Amino acid sequence: MSLLTASALTAFYGDAQALFGIDLRVEPGEVLAIIGANGAGKSTCLKALTGLVKVPRESVHFDGRAVGGLPPGEIVRMGLAMVPEGRRLFPSLTVEENLLMGAFAARPGPWSLARLYGMFPILKEKRQLPGTSLSGGQQQMVAIGRALMSNPRLLLCDELSLGLAPIVIKEIYDAMPSITAEGMSVVVVEQDVSVAMRVSQRVVCFQEGRVSLEGASSELTREQIASAYFGLHA
Ligand SMILES: Nc1ncnc2c1ncn2[C@@H]1O[C@H](COP(=O)(O)OP(=O)(O)OP(=O)(O)O)[C@@H](O)[C@H]1O
Ligand SMILES: [Mg+2]
Repeated sequence: MSLLTASALTAFYGDAQALFGIDLRVEPGEVLAIIGANGAGKSTCLKALTGLVKVPRESVHFDGRAVGGLPPGEIVRMGLAMVPEGRRLFPSLTVEENLLMGAFAARPGPWSLARLYGMFPILKEKRQLPGTSLSGGQQQMVAIGRALMSNPRLLLCDELSLGLAPIVIKEIYDAMPSITAEGMSVVVVEQDVSVAMRVSQRVVCFQEGRVSLEGASSELTREQIASAYFGLHA
């Protein structure tokens, strides 16, 4: 059984429709990449899955339960955590306090401060500093760490690579195998298609609020992706 399924998922901002019937599934232990141009609906989809944008109850199932539109806190407690676009650290808190905020609604599981510091040693070094004093890449590590501290079964990441240098992006994505090692699933939203293809097993492309392509990351061709991404006809 899939860990998460979205069926005919629609979402609106007021009268403006952003998602037009998205079908999506996430399997246990996989990394799924969602790609697509600006405004395609990637962030809206993640927000719909985590209760930040209200959607019909039956349009999202997580671990066999209909969870569409439930309060975000309830969804986190069931094991769905998000690393939001733009990191959103708490400016008045230290690195360590930011991480501990993630443990507030934590489920039992493998993630702890010690384990996080093992994965991102720089965070241990800087644990007493204000989170927002760190570099962009290090702040992204804090945002990932904060989400992991809730011990999720599914981690949703919105544009981890935004504004970061390639070497920093690589460092962050190199952590993926240790994140998925114990069966956690990850969804990464990525503007950078080559990064998306490299880090995922499967990819879904959105175009104007619809799924335009879905397939194994190792099998899709550049032509297929370009066509699905931009709506070009190859
Ligand atoms: N808060 C909002 N209020 C109104 N419309 C919104 C809001 N957020 C997003 N939209 C609209 O919903 C659509 C999907 O936007 P969304 O942010 O999900 O796209 P995206 O794929 O994440 O884009 P990007 O790559 O730029 O982050 C767009 O047309 C956008 O203008
Ligand atoms: Mg977005």
